[in-house]
Amino acid sequence: MNALQQIDGGTEGALLDMTQFHSTAPGVPPKTGLGGQPAFFSVWDIHAYYGESYIVQGVSFDIREGEIVALLGRNGAGKTSTLRAIARVDDPALKHGEIWLDHKPLHEMKAYQAARNGIGLVPEDRRIIQGLTVEENLQLAQIAPPRGWSIERLYELFPRLGERRKQEGTTLSGGEQQMLAVARALARDLLRDKPLMLLDEPFSALDTDRRGEMAGLVRKLTRDRGLATLVVSHDPADAGRLGSRAIALRDGRISP
Ligand SMILES: Nc1ncnc2c1ncn2[C@@H]1O[C@H](COP(=O)(O)OP(=O)(O)O)[C@@H](O)[C@H]1O
Ligand SMILES: [Mg+2]
Repeated sequence: MNALQQIDGGTEGALLDMTQFHSTAPGVPPKTGLGGQPAFFSVWDIHAYYGESYIVQGVSFDIREGEIVALLGRNGAGKTSTLRAIARVDDPALKHGEIWLDHKPLHEMKAYQAARNGIGLVPEDRRIIQGLTVEENLQLAQIAPPRGWSIERLYELFPRLGERRKQEGTTLSGGEQQMLAVARALARDLLRDKPLMLLDEPFSALDTDRRGEMAGLVRKLTRDRGLATLVVSHDPADAGRLGSRAIALRDGRISP
């Protein structure tokens, strides 16, 4: 059984189990989280469109401070679109709903304002720069402040990138390009002062060992910085690796 079948079939029970702490039913305003306090991050009934194409169809959830939530779902379920709607990029257009981060109304903001107010998005679209080696891609990320992790430290975390430092970035495998995209975000300290970290498929095509390491890194970043983190994956096992609550998206809606 592959991961996608697992979402639809065999491990439904496990998924339900992981979502038992989900404090907000779809469609119910998460204005107050557990204990009556406003949730640190709340998405309430968001609907988003690419032109006429209706993709995000009423998604609601919340994340507490210091918490990691995995957003699961098969390809085309609307995971990337949901992250993009939260980050307030132009496409898909948010037509309805509210998004609150630490009492700030992101739904009223443009993407640059959302970034300034604490959204850090590491996109699935890798934008590795053509004609540059792995190392040059990392150096470019550090050309201007804020600078984050040193390149040597990143090679310790991702030895595969160290081995391939002279290779052109666009010739890496999909999984390696994913590592380079995450390494670049860390090199640039893209996530500095970003209380909400949105990671789109950071595990895709990493092997099992590397997935464990990546999960450890995400847990550490979340814990050390008191961040809230939303991690997209199509593999329910990644929620287990992260030790996180999981919510499942299907056809642009949270499935119960
Ligand atoms: N730029 C776009 N224009 C029109 N439709 C899009 C665009 N991007 C994604 N879609 C559609 O939105 C749906 C959800 O896509 P996406 O959010 O990328 O799913 P996931 O990340 O879960 O694989 C898919 O049917 C996809 O074809
Ligand atoms: Mg996607």
